[in-house]
Amino acid sequence: MVDIEQLNPHNQAALRAWWEVGHAATAERPGKPWPLWETSRVALPAPNPERGITLLGAIDGREMVGAGLLTRTLKENLHSAMAFAWTRPDRRREGIGRRLAQELEVIASGDGRTTLQSEAYLPPGGAGTAPEAFAEAMGYVVASRESIKELTLADYADRRDALAVETDTARDYRIITFDTVCPDEHLGSFGRLLGMLMDEVPLGELDLEASEWSPERIRGAEQRQVDIGRHVHTAMAIAPDGAVAGVSDVRVDDDDPVHGQVGITIVDPAHRGHRLGLALKLATHDLAVATYPELRVLDTSNAEVNTWMNAVNEALGYRTIETLLELQKKTV
Ligand SMILES: CC(C)(COP(=O)(O)OP(=O)(O)OC[C@H]1O[C@@H](n2cnc3c(N)ncnc32)[C@H](O)[C@@H]1OP(=O)(O)O)[C@@H](O)C(=O)NCCC(=O)NCCS
Repeated sequence: MVDIEQLNPHNQAALRAWWEVGHAATAERPGKPWPLWETSRVALPAPNPERGITLLGAIDGREMVGAGLLTRTLKENLHSAMAFAWTRPDRRREGIGRRLAQELEVIASGDGRTTLQSEAYLPPGGAGTAPEAFAEAMGYVVASRESIKELTLADYADRRDALAVETDTARDYRIITFDTVCPDEHLGSFGRLLGMLMDEVPLGELDLEASEWSPERIRGAEQRQVDIGRHVHTAMAIAPDGAVAGVSDVRVDDDDPVHGQVGITIVDPAHRGHRLGLALKLATHDLAVATYPELRVLDTSNAEVNTWMNAVNEALGYRTIETLLELQKKTV
């Protein structure tokens, strides 16, 4: 008899068992599909002003055999939540994933969240896989297709100098960089750009709305990153009039300086056409390489329809390792 239980993220034994299930359930995927234990141990119980989380365990006797996660944005998109389920490979097709998905839906709707979103990872261009079949059986539809890409920094080193020549058209902009905490003088303009993100990033059919980023909100989100040991190495393009014209970042956790991840990248529509996207990415990648000599790979994900960003990433040397299906289910 399998019981579905909510877990307290401060209970480290329970959290470890939860983490082990996700680790086992994602072990067959390429790249870095699951965080290191140290990262999860610190990040999941830490206060997060941006997101609420609920952890579920599927427990058989004294063993955890399935894991669930519900995340809810707290500042916008209060109608939506993200739901994830993982079943230990030796316990699949017993209905554990279904029980987790159902319980996640109950918790979401108790909080007024009626649009559920999720993710399924497949081999590039793959079809007919377990996550897809499971998603369909749970009533989710594909709202957007993304590709997960990985860059080996040795490949980046081979291409970097030739690419830097192409950023000559960005010469009227000043590129500044910082670790996580935005300089005071750019905070207001940075918030304006962050507010555009949801409207500018291709979201397919995902039902998500734009949000406002006040200086206090940015500072709160930065503090959370500092508290959990995540370095958001950021590059900003400053226009001649002082406005933040574009931003991009690479994130590296203190406990895993071998892998990094690209966070957001956005160039204000008013400042496009100057190769700022490429200039910003070169700046973040150079900074990451200079800061972490042991850094080996970076990963990123982009909508397949985002031709501009995909072209920049391919030029940098990123290669597709997986297809990501962004899934959605409306419960009312
Ligand atoms: C996807 C996953 C959670 C399914 O877990 P599970 O416990 O095996 O799922 P269930 O037994 O509850 O299956 C529910 C339904 O999904 C469908 N399904 C699940 N796995 C399937 C597979 N391999 N082939 C075809 N259909 C499948 C079936 O319709 C199944 O119902 P049925 O067994 O009555 O036919 C599991 O394979 C997993 O952990 N994968 C890796 C993580 C992941 O992709 N999670 C999903 C996105 S968050």
